[in-house]
Amino acid sequence: MAAADLGHLPVNRRPIGVFDSGIGGLTVARAIATALPHESIYYVGDTKRCPYGVRTQEEVRTFTLQAGSWLVERGVKIIVIACNTATASALKVAQQTFDVPVIGVIAPGARAAVHTTRTRRVGVLATNLTVESGAYTRAIQDLDAGVRVFGCPASVFVDVVEDALASGDRLNQDWFDDRSVFMTPAVRGLARQVTQPLRGQGVDTVVLGCTHFPLLAAPIHEAMGPDVRIVSSAEETTAELIEILRRREQLAGADALARHRFATTSENITSFAVAGSFIFGKPLRSIEHIELGELEELRA
Ligand code: DGL
Repeated sequence: MAAADLGHLPVNRRPIGVFDSGIGGLTVARAIATALPHESIYYVGDTKRCPYGVRTQEEVRTFTLQAGSWLVERGVKIIVIACNTATASALKVAQQTFDVPVIGVIAPGARAAVHTTRTRRVGVLATNLTVESGAYTRAIQDLDAGVRVFGCPASVFVDVVEDALASGDRLNQDWFDDRSVFMTPAVRGLARQVTQPLRGQGVDTVVLGCTHFPLLAAPIHEAMGPDVRIVSSAEETTAELIEILRRREQLAGADALARHRFATTSENITSFAVAGSFIFGKPLRSIEHIELGELEELRA
């Protein structure tokens, strides 16, 4: 399917651009589509270059600007960087580069954590690069300087999600809703092992600082124990998005019909469609392939 240029539409009818390194950002796109049923989404998943969480900040910055430019060329009215790793490395430069507003997922995730914790001891499960960047610690302590933050690198979880969904053979529409699909002995054991540094720190809240991780909420919760609350940024990010569009008078309006488009750098459209539909909660009807060369010509 050919890429659409929607720049001719009135601004409020243009799509919301959503970007992630792969399919994890569809957890955020799903929250947006649920809260804003009249908005169209244009989603880019850079699946071919996923995972970002073990790359350098320079690389992630370049990839994020490329995907952002691609979306801006298609006329999006705002960009949501639905990837914590890209937010940590590239939110500021993306905001300085593009004419449309750009929001990330770390400030909303930090807000959710600060509002939830009572012990003011918060764990952050994120990719290695996000933890190393210290972005969550800064964002949380900007809101409440008295909160202690314990980062826990967990890039291995990204592979668990991508691999399980890429195989596709056990997929059905109930998966994401009952979340039990990842409650296998192997994943439960891995969750216990990965979260080990967080246990014994007195954290009462763990923020899922990677958009892939809501899929693993059940084994993570089990590993951390029933008294620990697990929060993620999807709903808070959606709330911020709504507030920006409302204030700018750019919400689509109740007579608009949502039309979602999805684009991936992966050659395997079928696998993206199956895994993506499962995470998004609805069939992904319109999926296009982006050649890496096309992205590399943009802001390389
Ligand atoms: N989903 C991305 C995030 O939120 C990371 C996955 C990756 O390592 O590419 O950080």
